[in-house]
Amino acid sequence: MRMITAIIRPHKYEELRDALVAIGIEGITVTQVQGFGRQRGHSEIYRGAEYQVMEVPKVRIDVAVSAELVEKAVREIERAASTGKTGDGKIFVQPLEQVVRIRTGETNETALS
Ligand SMILES: Nc1ncnc2c1ncn2[C@@H]1O[C@H](COP(=O)(O)OP(=O)(O)OP(=O)(O)O)[C@@H](O)[C@H]1O
Ligand SMILES: [Mg+2]
Repeated sequence: MRMITAIIRPHKYEELRDALVAIGIEGITVTQVQGFGRQRGHSEIYRGAEYQVMEVPKVRIDVAVSAELVEKAVREIERAASTGKTGDGKIFVQPLEQVVRIRTGETNETALS
């Protein structure tokens, strides 16, 4: 199993969620976050002075998936989150050791489907 974390543009979230549900993802955690990439945010004028705002609002999604769904999920995230411009975001994939569905005690792949 893998934990996929993606940082995306907020307005892309709904399209991404629908794409993941369509390939069989059964749950998503979504969080409003702030961050920066290599362009380091953007400039803003405030009270006549220019400020460099490092952090820009993004949406973070965390999705636990079975090994067989990982590649498909990453592809769908790339497709749905892309505009082709700087700031489209990043996808991080990490090994996931254990999953428990609290209500039933089911574990791992069974708890993900
Ligand atoms: N190395 C990183 N570690 C953790 N979070 C990151 C990292 N790089 C980017 N992020 C997160 O992803 C968001 C979007 O990053 P962004 O797409 O601007 O990356 P980038 O590497 O600058 O690529 P691009 O050149 O396409 O803009 C950032 O605001 C930040 O929240
Ligand atoms: Mg960037």
